[in-house]
Amino acid sequence: MKNILFYGGGNIAQSVIEGLLNSGFSKKNIYFHDRNLSNQKKLNKLKIKKFTGNINEINFVILCVKPKDALNAYKEIASMKNNPKIVSFVAGIKSKKYLKINKNVSFLRAMPNTSSRFDLGITALFNCSFQKTDMAYIKGLFKKFGRVIELDYESKMDQFTGLVGSGPAYFFYLLKTYEKELLKMCNGNKDEVAAIMTNLLEGVSKSIQVNDNLDELIKMVASKKGTTEAGLKSFSTSNINKIFKNGLKKAIERSKEISNEY
Ligand SMILES: NC(=O)c1ccc[n+]([C@@H]2O[C@H](COP(=O)([O-])OP(=O)(O)OC[C@H]3O[C@@H](n4cnc5c(N)ncnc54)[C@H](OP(=O)(O)O)[C@@H]3O)[C@@H](O)[C@H]2O)c1
Repeated sequence: MKNILFYGGGNIAQSVIEGLLNSGFSKKNIYFHDRNLSNQKKLNKLKIKKFTGNINEINFVILCVKPKDALNAYKEIASMKNNPKIVSFVAGIKSKKYLKINKNVSFLRAMPNTSSRFDLGITALFNCSFQKTDMAYIKGLFKKFGRVIELDYESKMDQFTGLVGSGPAYFFYLLKTYEKELLKMCNGNKDEVAAIMTNLLEGVSKSIQVNDNLDELIKMVASKKGTTEAGLKSFSTSNINKIFKNGLKKAIERSKEISNEY
């Protein structure tokens, strides 16, 4: 097993670390470096070791800090070791920005999502300068806790980030309205509401696994002049699909903008 250092130990690092641990990857081979006390505590709880500064122990460094901190963190890593192998989780910032600072680095971009912690990750990879064997290793690693999609153009990272990286939050956001209405029906019983939402979404996800034709799935629920049809008609009149599509477009645009900001 190779040693992996998470440079930045926040939300996404913790999700991926949990995915790795669930898949049997040994915590002995995982290190973290993070300045934030609350994240340090969370990683200590998972019994992940703090990086002591011996970079020669490390095979791959995962760069997982916010875009505003990314180029500085990259400089820090590149100053510790000759030709480090860096996997960047950072949204927006393109490989050429990093390699302009120091090109003596093997670089790969990866975009996972927080569902990695439940073995339901979806990770996009774009290989900038990793050797084939290293690329294969990283791909195998992410496959342990979800799906991996290899992108043919780096520009598609922006699409993936806006659509899939941010994806879980869109559904949580929409569910907030649903939760509010369910709470009224369940006399404020949050556990009951959470159970209803869980079963409903698991049912939705299983249905798609059996039949990926969304129109057919809708037809199975909506009968002529029924309640579902009334709800769907109202959605359609309010042009919800256009609103949703515009949100997705904004997220993709934002990913493109980030690269120009740093
Ligand atoms: N969250 C997601 O779902 C997701 C999904 C895919 C990709 N990403 C990408 O992953 C990156 C990290 O996102 P996140 O949500 O995990 O961020 P986060 O929760 O803020 O975690 C980043 C951590 O890195 C620390 N840090 C920053 N610079 C550092 C440095 N030079 N040395 C030591 N520690 C440092 C931060 O400390 P401070 O708090 O003190 O700044 C923070 O604890 C982002 O670029 C994002 O685009 C996120």
